[in-house]
Amino acid sequence: MTMKSLLLLVVVLTVIAGNGVQSQLINLQILTVTGTVKCTQNYTDTNAPPFRGAQVQLLSGGIIIANATTDINGLFNINLNVGVTLNGILINVDILETCILKVTTPLVHCNALLTTSGVLVSSITRLSLITGVLVPERFIFVALSSLDCPHAV
Ligand SMILES: *[C@@H]1O[C@H](CO)[C@@H](O)[C@H](O)[C@H]1NC(C)=O
Ligand SMILES: *[C@@H]1O[C@H](CO)[C@@H](O)[C@H](O)[C@H]1NC(C)=O
Repeated sequence: MTMKSLLLLVVVLTVIAGNGVQSQLINLQILTVTGTVKCTQNYTDTNAPPFRGAQVQLLSGGIIIANATTDINGLFNINLNVGVTLNGILINVDILETCILKVTTPLVHCNALLTTSGVLVSSITRLSLITGVLVPERFIFVALSSLDCPHAV
């Protein structure tokens, strides 16, 4: 092999490796649903404290796909493997975009002046087209704890 053809081989291999990285970004293997829950019934109240230790469910048409608990900052994080079936739901970005998040822990747990019933619910949206990160749109308080239909929100 001449020096010239060796150089050419290196260039070709580099281009192939580069394409590999690119297609990995497009064919996402892990999707993350993450966000913060605040201790309020009023989503416009940006000064509300975090809702710590709250149970968060990820629902698809009333079926629980996954759940999580918020940390000390009210933050929750759910990682899902694409192509895996959870409770009969095949995980991909299209199905996740139709899911809702439901906080099942009553607000009275973070503030004794708040309600013992009702839930916070939010639709979720993809942060950007090139990442597999989805975030809550806004957590709205709903008085009915049985609510789990995304179309009713
Ligand atoms: C919600 O919070 C906003 C911002 O703090 C406030 O202006 C508004 O009055 C609040 N609404 C209710 C119903 O408490
Ligand atoms: C959370 O999800 C796991 C796995 O689906 C399930 O075993 C568990 O019972 C759920 N916990 C709650 C509190 O929903």
